[in-house]
Amino acid sequence: MKVVVIHQSRTGNTRRAAELIGGAAEAAGATVAVRPTTNLDYKELAEADVVFVGTWVDGLILFGHRPGDLGRVKQVPKLWNKRVAAFMTHAVNPGNAADKLAAVLEADGADVVAARSLNRRRLDADAPAFAAEVLASVSAAA
Ligand SMILES: Cc1cc2nc3c(=O)[nH]c(=O)nc-3n(C[C@H](O)[C@H](O)[C@H](O)COP(=O)(O)O)c2cc1C
Repeated sequence: MKVVVIHQSRTGNTRRAAELIGGAAEAAGATVAVRPTTNLDYKELAEADVVFVGTWVDGLILFGHRPGDLGRVKQVPKLWNKRVAAFMTHAVNPGNAADKLAAVLEADGADVVAARSLNRRRLDADAPAFAAEVLASVSAAA
């Protein structure tokens, strides 16, 4: 299985989540590339079986949650009919930002199989667990 993990990160949490997701996928036997939104490889994306797309939660803690740097995320080539997992990182309250990210990706034709925000303090446990869940659901559907 070919997996690409794309991240948009300002202070490194989402990049770290992406690396943990990539590491878990690799440990499960996948061929993995982890890339920032600024350094994508179109051929690699075209050949991917699953694409993880991640960014950070921007909001006012109690309300107004949305995907951070959405303009950058929207520069990712349209993922027509690709299985895509949306992930985010947050500090305390993600609101419904992960659903909003999923909606943006779906509007670009992605087949979103999961959407989750991960608490930045629990990435070590939660990011690999999310990866395992997504890969299991994709393998079951294949
Ligand atoms: C402008 C701004 C707004 C934020 N709003 C929220 C928020 O509403 N809820 C939350 O849980 N975290 C919020 N955060 C925290 C980030 O989502 C969190 O630190 C995230 O892990 C940063 O990811 P990065 O290190 O990949 O940039 C905010 C951070 C910034 C800079």
